[in-house]
This record gives sequence, C-alpha cells and structure tokens, in this order.
Amino acid sequence: MNDIVVKDLYKSYNTGTEELTILSGVNLEIEQNTRVILTGNSGCGKSTLLNLISGMDSFSKGEIFVDGHIINNLTESELSSYRAKSIGLIFQFHYLLKDFTALENVMLPAFMTGKDRNIATEKAKDLLVEIGLEDRLDHMPSQLSGGERQRIAVVRSLINDPGIILADEPTGNLDENNSRKVEDLLFELVKNHGKTLLLVTHDSALARRGDRHIEIHEGKLQEI
Ligand SMILES: Nc1ncnc2c1ncn2[C@@H]1O[C@H](COP(=O)(O)OP(=O)(O)OP(=O)(O)O)[C@@H](O)[C@H]1O
Ligand SMILES: [Mg+2]
Repeated sequence: MNDIVVKDLYKSYNTGTEELTILSGVNLEIEQNTRVILTGNSGCGKSTLLNLISGMDSFSKGEIFVDGHIINNLTESELSSYRAKSIGLIFQFHYLLKDFTALENVMLPAFMTGKDRNIATEKAKDLLVEIGLEDRLDHMPSQLSGGERQRIAVVRSLINDPGIILADEPTGNLDENNSRKVEDLLFELVKNHGKTLLLVTHDSALARRGDRHIEIHEGKLQEI
C-alpha cells in the first residue's frame, strides 16, 4: 500500500509583485515502510513539499493522498487531527518547550489527541529508554546536550504512533558525531516501529542511506 501519493502538485507564492512558482507538477508515490531521502539546492522547495504533505500550507493545484485519504479539502480541525495522528514531524531545531522536562516534552503531542495521561507517560518513558536516555527523564532542555535534545525531538515524533515521519534537515544543527548518532537512531526507530520516512538533507552521506533518493530540480522531482 502507498502511504503518500502526490499527483501533479503545483505550489506558487504571490510575493505582491510576482507569482513565484516553486513546485510545478510534482508526482510522487511512497510505499509504506520506505525511507526516502529528498535533496536539492537551497530554495528549490524541499521544505515547501514537506509542509504541503503535513497540511501546514496550501497548494494551488494537484492532489495529496496520505494513507489513501485525500487531504486537499480537510477543514482546519480535520487538518490538525490529521497532523497530530498521521504525521510525525522532526525539524532542524528541536522545538522542545523549555519549561517542560524531557519526559513531558515527549508526551506533549499525545495531549493533542486526547490520549490517556498514564498511557502517554508509559509510552514516552519506553521511547526514552529505547534511545538510552532513561537517566534524563526529568532533565529540562537546558540541562541536556544538543544531541540529546535532538534525539528527544526524534522520539517525540513517534509518541502518537503516526505512519509517516517527515524530517526536515534533522541533523542540520549538529556536529558530525551527533549527526551520525541521530541519523542511526532515526533509521533504527523507523525500522523497528515500521514507519515511512521522508527526510530532507544537504548531507551527501545521509542522502545515500535511504531506500530511495529523490532530488527536486526546477520544480519537479527526479529519482536519483
Ligand atoms: N511564504 C513565502 N512567500 C514567498 N516565498 C516563499 C515563502 N516561503 C518560501 N518561499 C520561497 O520558496 C522557495 C522554496 O523554499 P523552501 O523553504 O521550500 O526551500 P528549501 O528547498 O527547503 O531550501 P533550504 O535547503 O534552504 O531549506 C524559496 O525560494 C523561498 O524563498
Ligand atoms: Mg528547507
């Protein structure tokens, strides 16, 4: 089964003076449990494509299906439920909330979906144990290293058990050593938990680790 299907997708921005076309006829089919790496020059539309698939931005033309359901015409509340349940997001910056512990940060997305607090706590603990941070549950983000913060952001994306993980330069802020650690962890988690991964990177070593490598060039996708 295909987890993500994008058909003839167009995205333009109106800058006030001109119509800037970023994606012009993007087609993409990603099967379940596949790891796809997306690369391309800065400004080519990688983050834009991820934002469209996660329903954070609207598009001019085309169709996006996730898990067989079209997301084009969802209402705002349907979109936020879709984002919370079906998609796990990881960014270059960790976006951990500074006044919450590591454990609470991992649990936060579970509250959006109304999950039982005890179940969420257990699941968040399990995930932190799985990545070797069982001794850091009660640490605040300021008491964690950069690599630890990003590993926590990675497991936070799994708390609601989404089928799809969208990662936008997840190692972009880390040094070489921490990048490899976060990468290894992400690939291992995606494999162990049976997720579909769409990951954007500028790192050529990471770009080779997927099942597929796709590049955006002049508004269209090319399989590498
Ligand atoms: N809200 C906006 N209004 C106008 N133009 C925008 C807007 N958001 C993005 N753009 C433009 O769309 C293009 C694609 O942006 P996007 O963030 O998708 O690039 P990217 O491929 O992720 O680049 P990078 O590798 O630098 O992160 C850029 O040229 C950007 O300037
Ligand atoms: Mg980007």
